[in-house]
Amino acid sequence: MTDETDMSDVPAPGAADSAPVAAPAPQPRRGTDAPPAADGAPVPLRSEGLSCLFSGRVVVEDATIAFPTNTVTAIIGPSGCGKSTYIRALNRMHEAVPGATTTGRVLLHDHDIYGRRADPVAIRRRIGMVFQRPNPFPTKSVADNVLAGVAFTRTRLSRAERTALVESTLRGAGLWDEVKNRLHSPAGGLSGGQQQRLCIARALAVEPAVLLMDEPCSALDPQSTQRIEDLIHELKQRITVVIVTHNMQQAARVSDFTAFFTIRTEGEPGKVVEAGPTRQIFGAPKDPQTEAYVSGRFG
Ligand SMILES: Nc1ncnc2c1ncn2[C@@H]1O[C@H](COP(=O)(O)OP(=O)(O)OP(=O)(O)O)[C@@H](O)[C@H]1O
Ligand SMILES: [Mg+2]
Repeated sequence: MTDETDMSDVPAPGAADSAPVAAPAPQPRRGTDAPPAADGAPVPLRSEGLSCLFSGRVVVEDATIAFPTNTVTAIIGPSGCGKSTYIRALNRMHEAVPGATTTGRVLLHDHDIYGRRADPVAIRRRIGMVFQRPNPFPTKSVADNVLAGVAFTRTRLSRAERTALVESTLRGAGLWDEVKNRLHSPAGGLSGGQQQRLCIARALAVEPAVLLMDEPCSALDPQSTQRIEDLIHELKQRITVVIVTHNMQQAARVSDFTAFFTIRTEGEPGKVVEAGPTRQIFGAPKDPQTEAYVSGRFG
């Protein structure tokens, strides 16, 4: 992947105690043409002064959040405050909507994904996404769904390598035992919870550094939700996870950090009110708006 090379003063990679804070944006300075993350290297993601617009209308304003490596960050806030828009801007999916634009920066391991030479397709591979409704290719087989993203990479895999990748990825997504005897059956025949884990597997098969999840459990029953939450715990050993959720208990259970967005009135842009360690956001929020939201008095 080639990236624009603006560099910034990012916190030390892996600094899990550094809160994802609404910090003042550092001054950009010129960097080198170094490639993004070497394999296994920490890959912090951060947005700096990121605003998201639809046809000129600002719906998210000036969001600066850092997502420390190997952590889970929950994005919470009332409906319409721009959570989905924001995370779609973190992997350049926002711009798929005609008229949708952004200002500000999103840095993946110090490289601006909105840089002039950045490749959106390569970025979406490094920063995968899972949506509210499971969206496997229903007529494709389970195995072909896992490999769907891989098919677009330049790496050519042998049949044996593909078979091994399907198994290891499905194991990684906690789905192997349930589907190992139906790898060649259509994915549309799986349950909703299984389909969602298949979508996670599809995203994981291309070895992303970051997985963005937009309300991944909202269409699932409690048992399937539990499985996804268990999976998120496992995933953060390997990658960085950002999850949008309306479920406060879920945010408290799965996340290390929480960012609270809100919107003052209809038509105004959503903004980050407060971001920090989840236990602080839920236990001792600094802003009264956060307190009102997490205690269920608003939103
Ligand atoms: N494709 C679009 N075109 C124009 N405006 C949009 C589009 N998608 C979202 N918006 C607007 O952007 C704002 C933020 O929407 P968004 O879906 O990001 O909110 P959200 O916080 O994810 O809400 P929810 O919790 O209901 O999912 C809303 O005012 C919404 O109407
Ligand atoms: Mg949403």
